[in-house]
Amino acid sequence: MKRIYLMICLACACTAMIAQGKKDTPVYKDANRPVEERVNDLLKRMTLEEKVMQLNQYTLGRNDNVNNVGEAVKNIPAELGSVIYFSYDPKLRNEVQRKAMEESRLGIPLIYGYDVIHGFRTVYPIPLAQACSWNPELVQQASAVAAQEARMSGVDWTFSPMIDVARDGRWGRVAEGYGEDPHTNAVFAVASVKGYQGDNMASDKNVAACLKHFVGYGASEGGRDYVFTEISRQTLWDTYMQPYIEGVKAGAATLMSCFNDISGTPGTANPYILREVLKGKWGHDGFVVSDWGAIEQLRPQGVAADKKEAALKAFTAGVEMDMMNNCYNKHLGELVSEGLVSMEMLDDAVRRVLRVKFRLGLFERPYTPESTEKERFYLAESLRVAEQLAEESIVLLKNENNILPLQEAKDIAVVGPMGDTRWHLLGSWAAHGDSERIVPIASALKEEFEGKASVTFAKGCDFDGEDSSGFEEALQAARKADVVVVALGEKKNWSGENASRSTIALPDIQLQLLKEISKTGKPIVLVLSSGRPIELGKVEASCKAIVQMWQPGISGAKPIAGVLSGRVNPSGKLAITYPYASGQIPIYYNQRKSARPHQGKYQDIPNTPLYEFGHGLSYTSFEYGKLKASASSVSKDGRVTVEVPVTNTGDRDGLETVHWFITDPVASISRPVKELKHFEKKLIRKGETVVFRFEITPMKDIAFLNHNGDKILEKGKVYISVKDERVELDIE
Ligand code: GLC
Repeated sequence: MKRIYLMICLACACTAMIAQGKKDTPVYKDANRPVEERVNDLLKRMTLEEKVMQLNQYTLGRNDNVNNVGEAVKNIPAELGSVIYFSYDPKLRNEVQRKAMEESRLGIPLIYGYDVIHGFRTVYPIPLAQACSWNPELVQQASAVAAQEARMSGVDWTFSPMIDVARDGRWGRVAEGYGEDPHTNAVFAVASVKGYQGDNMASDKNVAACLKHFVGYGASEGGRDYVFTEISRQTLWDTYMQPYIEGVKAGAATLMSCFNDISGTPGTANPYILREVLKGKWGHDGFVVSDWGAIEQLRPQGVAADKKEAALKAFTAGVEMDMMNNCYNKHLGELVSEGLVSMEMLDDAVRRVLRVKFRLGLFERPYTPESTEKERFYLAESLRVAEQLAEESIVLLKNENNILPLQEAKDIAVVGPMGDTRWHLLGSWAAHGDSERIVPIASALKEEFEGKASVTFAKGCDFDGEDSSGFEEALQAARKADVVVVALGEKKNWSGENASRSTIALPDIQLQLLKEISKTGKPIVLVLSSGRPIELGKVEASCKAIVQMWQPGISGAKPIAGVLSGRVNPSGKLAITYPYASGQIPIYYNQRKSARPHQGKYQDIPNTPLYEFGHGLSYTSFEYGKLKASASSVSKDGRVTVEVPVTNTGDRDGLETVHWFITDPVASISRPVKELKHFEKKLIRKGETVVFRFEITPMKDIAFLNHNGDKILEKGKVYISVKDERVELDIE
């Protein structure tokens, strides 16, 4: 009896202690409490200085973005909000995090960001290539792998996806987004956000996403970086905003404000887009980080006289976090004390940052479990996804007399500077990608054709310069061969940030090599690896086949070797128009209507692109049947299905993407000549017919956005088209 009595007393004492302990645990440290309660509890404990420090981001580790001059910050303050983490070792992250958790008064964890744009260590094809796969499910898988590698390496937050609609190939960052079309960028924005954030950002396999660069960066005049854009309110909404609308709906935790000026108001000091639209109209409850230096750059942009005014303009406009400007850390506290920034606005900003940190689970798990690189990188499934995405991104642009796949060739010559490179196949923004594992084109072809054909490589020339001394060796190899694979393209740093080019033509030395090879009379297969569309108007005729492999990342040239041998049936289609010449730029499929469609053309060059948006050949053939609509009219709240049967009439299975466009011939605001509104990619086995469907709901698929971002659906006829066929639909 006595023992039972003692045990009961002990139990009661323990319960009382736990209850007391719980009572003493601040709400913000109690993982069982709702995030909003924890945020508010923590906020009310914070001093002005602690609040300001949460809104600053410094760098940790060696800055690997050459465009941003900035010394690594030596001594990270324990109260800091965030760092850009340039290492991939959890140890360094944990060391600094321990300082934040143990040496600061409230123990608020840092959030670690980094540019994981198309993979972390397992690097995937550049995003422009990914768009050409038209496979959002696969891109979601790739983003999930990138998130896992990043989180396990100490990164909680990626500055990705970049979803800037871009129509000017002279702009280096066209490589980094999903092409010229708003709907395409919107679909891949959602796929990336879902891949990065998963169902629960607190999982140790997910990271917070960051939609960038909000907004209109792709309209940089002349394709030059960091400059101004002229974007009307109407174009802002019907071209550039759609990917952000969908990305925010998908739950993207953060956004990054852009460098560019939007018709006189820089995106980083733009209350309309950041407060009225993002926070007001869309109700985004995460936070906005500036681009590197974008706050300080308000001075050269002519809207701020000094850093204090820059801080005031950016913060009141709606930029919560300062990436390496040293504006908020120096002036925000002062601005609050002077009453120029209200404590209410400051609290809202801090609340947003804390909210994301709680949702990431950083208070419960501030440290990254230490793991080996083998446990984190190049997992078999990650490499499989990389290879499949590289295969499905390859676009067969030309295939005269079905010269491809090379099945009869006994001697293949490979020439050109792209033939033996590894590094340049990674593409820009390759994070911690390592080119050592990459198989170059010539080696991949040797492996692929082992036992079937001999493969000889002779580089011929470099990517640029004037040295043609290697031509003769290349010509000798060509003369001995049945077919010549000419591998040309761009260096890794010719696209990406601060990589504008006045022309999208290849350097003369590469074109001269191609010309000399064509004089041998041997059939040429041109393989291109680049971060942008390449001008081919004058060289297209000399090539029997042309294949755009983009920059495939870690999979290197094995996929393109598979296409040349026929092991892989190419299924990629262009997500960006291929101009005939640089002089046609800007040229894109969804241009607004001309007053005189048949006049006003260039006198000196063709006026149609060399290869249109959506172009891409296969080794099989597909026959499209008649379009059929379930009704000829539809009300605002109705629904109509349009379908098209597609038959594989060739002799091998193939993946086919069907693009569905709408055309609104007459509206209160002139609409583009056509607009992509749906796409679907399916496997069609040889001889089979598969029906593709577009379930149309007028408010989602037909309505357009006016200059206030309001959806407008007008009565009258619209056309739904696939390829050259269309059906008419009457909107009642
Ligand atoms: C760069 C880029 C931005 C990137 C950031 C951090 O200047 O504009 O896309 O996320 O700085 O590297």
